Amino acid sequence: MRLTRLVSVLFWFLCIHIPTFFCANVEYDHRALVIDGKRRVLISGSIHYPRSTPEMWPDLIQKSKDGGLDVIETYVFWNLHEPVRGQYDFDGRKDLVKFVKTVAAAGLYVHLRIGPYVCAEWNYGGFPLWLHFIPGIKFRTDNEPFKAEMKRFTAKIVDMIKQEKLYASQGGPVILSQIENEYGNIDSAYGSAGKSYIKWAASMATSLDTGVPWVMCQQADAPEPIINTCNGFYCDQFTPNSNTKPKMWTENWSGWFLSFGGAVPYRPVEDLAFAVARFFQRGGTFQNYYMYHGGTNFDRTSGGPFISTSYDYDAPIDEYGLIRQPKWGHLKEVHKAIKLCEEALIATDPTITSLGPNLEAAVYKTGSVCAAFLANVGTTSDATVNFSGNSYHLPAWSVSILPDCKNVVLNTAKINSASAISSFTTESSKEDIGSLEASSTGWSWISELVGISKANSFSRTGLLEQINTTADKSDYLWYSISLDYKGDAGSQTVLHIESLGHALHAFINGKLAGSQAGNSGKSKFTVDIPVTLVAGKNTIDLLSLTVGLQNYGAFFDTWGAGITGPVTLKGSTNGSTLDLSSQTWTYQVGLKGEDLGLSSGSSGQWNSESSFPKNQALTWYKTNFAAPSGSNPVAIDFTGMGKGEAWVNGQSIGRYWPTYVSPNSGCTDSCNYRGPYSSSKCRKNCGKPSQTLYHVPRSWLKPSGNTLVLFEESGGDPTQISFVTKQTESLCAHVSDSHPPPVDMWNSNTESGSKVGPVLSLSCPHHNQVISSIKFASYGTPLGTCGNFYHGRCSSNKALSIVQKACIGSSSCSVGVSIDTFGDPCRGVAKSLAVEATCA
Ligand code: GAL
Repeated sequence: MRLTRLVSVLFWFLCIHIPTFFCANVEYDHRALVIDGKRRVLISGSIHYPRSTPEMWPDLIQKSKDGGLDVIETYVFWNLHEPVRGQYDFDGRKDLVKFVKTVAAAGLYVHLRIGPYVCAEWNYGGFPLWLHFIPGIKFRTDNEPFKAEMKRFTAKIVDMIKQEKLYASQGGPVILSQIENEYGNIDSAYGSAGKSYIKWAASMATSLDTGVPWVMCQQADAPEPIINTCNGFYCDQFTPNSNTKPKMWTENWSGWFLSFGGAVPYRPVEDLAFAVARFFQRGGTFQNYYMYHGGTNFDRTSGGPFISTSYDYDAPIDEYGLIRQPKWGHLKEVHKAIKLCEEALIATDPTITSLGPNLEAAVYKTGSVCAAFLANVGTTSDATVNFSGNSYHLPAWSVSILPDCKNVVLNTAKINSASAISSFTTESSKEDIGSLEASSTGWSWISELVGISKANSFSRTGLLEQINTTADKSDYLWYSISLDYKGDAGSQTVLHIESLGHALHAFINGKLAGSQAGNSGKSKFTVDIPVTLVAGKNTIDLLSLTVGLQNYGAFFDTWGAGITGPVTLKGSTNGSTLDLSSQTWTYQVGLKGEDLGLSSGSSGQWNSESSFPKNQALTWYKTNFAAPSGSNPVAIDFTGMGKGEAWVNGQSIGRYWPTYVSPNSGCTDSCNYRGPYSSSKCRKNCGKPSQTLYHVPRSWLKPSGNTLVLFEESGGDPTQISFVTKQTESLCAHVSDSHPPPVDMWNSNTESGSKVGPVLSLSCPHHNQVISSIKFASYGTPLGTCGNFYHGRCSSNKALSIVQKACIGSSSCSVGVSIDTFGDPCRGVAKSLAVEATCA
């Protein structure tokens, strides 16, 4: 380890001083990226540095490397780094250089997608809000104010990377950069100015002279020398716009993002592996998982509207940094299988032939190397194909990989990797809570005043658009008005509000009268709230809120938010409608508690008398807690709360909204992976809150004396929230006698040696664990899924004891799936081995 460090430092030194010898030269040709004269097959994965913590980075990157990645891709987030024009911030989670160096230290490459428009389900697509206020500016099209700012920021990042000698051309890890992002999806809306903008962006980027290639994704007209790349669930049909460019896939969506109010998307690994193999089958040489680790939208960084705080993405590494099985493990096998074909893949284009309807062979053959991919793209029927004189069984929607054009090393639909069931357990963290002596609940609180409470409020005629008014300094904008009601006391009327979104709480005479929110598909809403007016003066205070600013679409920066009206009082006693829209309203940007810095917990007059307010809108709550014991990842379960934001030791863990429930229908627990995937195809958790658990990074916690502050908008009971930790409960594997052996056992000289058969392997997630029990083992025709396996009609009575003997007490074990191990419980029947185990 030390020695490698030393060697890399030496290389670094030599590269700076004798660049021609010690720096990587990155070029490309028709087949691939070419690093130091050698074409490369590269497997890449996205990890966005601010979606985890610097303490998590080394582990995430190591797990990526162990999973078979060569490259880590990240966007660069302009609004994080330049919150105020000209004032840069690269601290903590924003330490881009540290992240890039951490990737380099693990020996991986970096693809830096500077954008600076990034989409990414990130607030405002990554643009800082001040950009919007530059006179005459139009985002992402041909105009001087925008181009000047885009160039300045892009050059700033490039310079920073250059100064740190992080480009491959300087001996660093950065082999690739991206400019813009999927502009080709929406450029028609910008007309000819869009076309000239892209030409400008290409030459601006090229002029920055990074020494490594630039890409544009989803940009069919990307000018030379920029490589146009593909994003999508499948990219096997993609071809770049010139024969001199390689076929590259910058976003293979490993799952999909979650929205507040939506069900949880997932993508079966059989389909993801199929998509990857299809891409390499049809000539691809660079593939990136978007996301490999999704992470968390801390703070108010989530885009939207309505992007949830979790950005788990069903990625191979989960939100908490734990590997997700069998996804991570199966893809690792896929990567190894593809690497076994690398020499053939980089040597030539594939020759593609049909083996029948929906059946396709691709052969990469030149000289002594040969690799083949056999695909069944049919969605229902398995097939047996004849290829080069041999017969191969191809399950529907699968690809078999043959690194020697003869023997199958892997089939994308046959999973050797174990799966894991993980669970969240509630941890006591109450030790400290009692220390808030005056309060029996352990909580103290401050009420945020309804309506205008700050000195910098102001009045205007008519209803203001929200983003222009708040500049996104806060989610919150108060719209307040008083009216003199001449009717009878207690008379019923209806308050009618039309809003561009994203959500609203309406208060009448200081009391919450109703709330409404849009959804991720439609942020606009109309709401009719029955209200009771008193005779004389009445106040209407409308708290309008944004839930992450729009991040995608043509002109997304101009879509707006807030109560743009009409706002009326309908059907009061005399039947008339009073339109309040053009009256004088008083506005307040943000909350008093935000200005007071209550989120840190240290300031403010916190109350802790016995009259503890539960289910009271607009309440700040504070408590102390001890970190849950152990080292498993920590989350807060917000069940019992309404909507708001939470801070741990002053750091925002994001918006919480456990009361926003997903629709009742549209989910399936076991999604059929066969057939084209789409973002709505496989969802779970219907009819349940979109997100109840919110990640608290371990590194933000002290053993005890931690402060948790919540701002609750609509009302909740903080005594119900709990701390949980995530751990693996069981490991399961199910391997049939027709599965190929593990890729590591691949040996192309199978004729000479005895043929190895399939193997079932289990491995505990932590190094210090051993397999402590075998909950289930059956060899024969076992049925069911992990956690619910049961014996089929045929089962060997020795299976349990054989597996116990092989596994118990070891951190990992392997058992051959064959009659040699278990004897034959039923002749002539296709058999498999299913095992469920626990680690301790
Ligand atoms: C793409 C975009 C990414 C991300 C993704 C969906 O269109 O380039 O930034 O938004 O969609 O997760």
